[in-house]
Amino acid sequence: MRVVSDRADLRSASLPGDVAVVMTMGALHEGHAALLRRARAEAKSVLMTLFVNPLQFGPNEDFDRYPRTMEADLELARAEGVDLVFAPTREVMYPQGEPSVRVEPGPLGAVLEGASRPGFFHGVLTVVNKLLQLTRPDYAYFGEKDYQQLTLIRAMVRDFDLPIDVRGVPTVREADGLALSSRNRYLSPPERQSALVLSRALRATAATGSIEAGLAEFAAVPEVKLDYLVLTDPMLGPAPDHGPARALTAARVGSTRLIDNVGVELP
Ligand code: PAF
Repeated sequence: MRVVSDRADLRSASLPGDVAVVMTMGALHEGHAALLRRARAEAKSVLMTLFVNPLQFGPNEDFDRYPRTMEADLELARAEGVDLVFAPTREVMYPQGEPSVRVEPGPLGAVLEGASRPGFFHGVLTVVNKLLQLTRPDYAYFGEKDYQQLTLIRAMVRDFDLPIDVRGVPTVREADGLALSSRNRYLSPPERQSALVLSRALRATAATGSIEAGLAEFAAVPEVKLDYLVLTDPMLGPAPDHGPARALTAARVGSTRLIDNVGVELP
């Protein structure tokens, strides 16, 4: 496995066959391993990017305290058969400073996560677009855990005619239902217990086809501050009367904001 951090080395590290990219901000866990495994199984070459993107953090968010675990990340990447890691510095990614031109996510970027985190999807889509241009993959793998992000990346690739196949990978969960997230490491043991309400509320919503049952789960755990629990169609539009749908939630547990979602089949 090679690790490069500048553009010239990335360009000269020519990878054979079809190339799969997995973009990460590090702090890797089993969810990332699942992305890398899919990539490894489906492409000749696997390229992982590792960059904590400052553009997608708001002024009061956790950019400075975001976990940085490079050694362990490289170990996991090596174990999963990654061929090349691109780990640029901020100066390599943004040589002119913060870019003045950014990808505009449109109306879907202003709701749910976008409503709570203004500018978040501008930052995500801008860095994803740059990393796609720099790495030129055939396939790009993203987790369904960040379902709105995945939906917006698919929309960007479609709307900008980028020649890339975007592939979603199901969320990996702990045995008790907690969706894996780099931010779970901020949770104290009691907070981690409280955080189980997110997956419980989603399961209740999926089982009944209505958010009422999910809201009742949140009401029973008042220390968790619900941001939203919604039922939508799979493209995040209004919920259909029946057929495939998506339930999504976000909540604050102590000072940690968590998100989760599940597929729902409405009878
Ligand atoms: O999902 C993430 O880890 C990030 O949003 C991504 C896609 C790597 C862009 O910084």
